Amino acid sequence: MPSDGSEREVTLYEAVGGMLFFERLVDGFYARVGTDPVLSPLYPDTDYGPAKRRLTLFLAQYWGGPTIYSDERGHPRLKMRHHPYVIGAAEQQHWMDAMTASIDDLEPMAEVRTMLLEYFEKAAEHLRNDGPLRFTGSA
Ligand code: HEM
Repeated sequence: MPSDGSEREVTLYEAVGGMLFFERLVDGFYARVGTDPVLSPLYPDTDYGPAKRRLTLFLAQYWGGPTIYSDERGHPRLKMRHHPYVIGAAEQQHWMDAMTASIDDLEPMAEVRTMLLEYFEKAAEHLRNDGPLRFTGSA
C-alpha cells in the first residue's frame, strides 16, 4: 500500500461503474433462466421485468449502491422470500451456473469476479431449503 495515502477504498458498486453493471448482469441471468429447464418452471411470472428489477436493486444495494431495494421492499429476508420455491442441489447448481456465465459475459476484474462468486456461492448454499428437518431447542 502506498504510504502517501493515495490508495482509496471504493465499494464494489463503484468499482464496476454503478447500476448499469448490475442491470446487465441480471439481464444476462434472466435470459438464461428463461431457457433453463430446471430454473424456468420455478419463476412465477413469465414477464421477468419486475423480478429483474428486484434482483438488480438488491445486488446494487448489497454492494454499496443506493438503498432503493429496501426503500421499496423493506428488509430483504431472502430466506423467507425463497420459501415458496424448493431449492435443492439441482436448482442451486443451475442458478450458480447461470449467474457465473452472466458474470463472465461482463468480463469484470479478477478481484470483482472472485468477490461476486464467493458471495453467491455462500448465499445460494444458505438458500437451499430441501434438506432434512433440523430441530432447534426452542420454538
Ligand atoms: C440457490 C438458487 C436460487 C433459486 C432457485 C432462486 C429462485 C428465486 C425465485 C424463483 C425468485 C422469485 C422471483 C421474483 O419474482 O422476484 C427469487 C427471488 C429473489 N432472489 Fe433468488 N434464487 C436463488 C438464489 C438467490 C441468491 C443466491 C440470491 C442473492 C444473493 C437471490 C436473490 C433473490 C432476490 C433479491 C429476489 C427478490 C426478492 C424480493 O421479493 O424482493 N436468490 N429467487
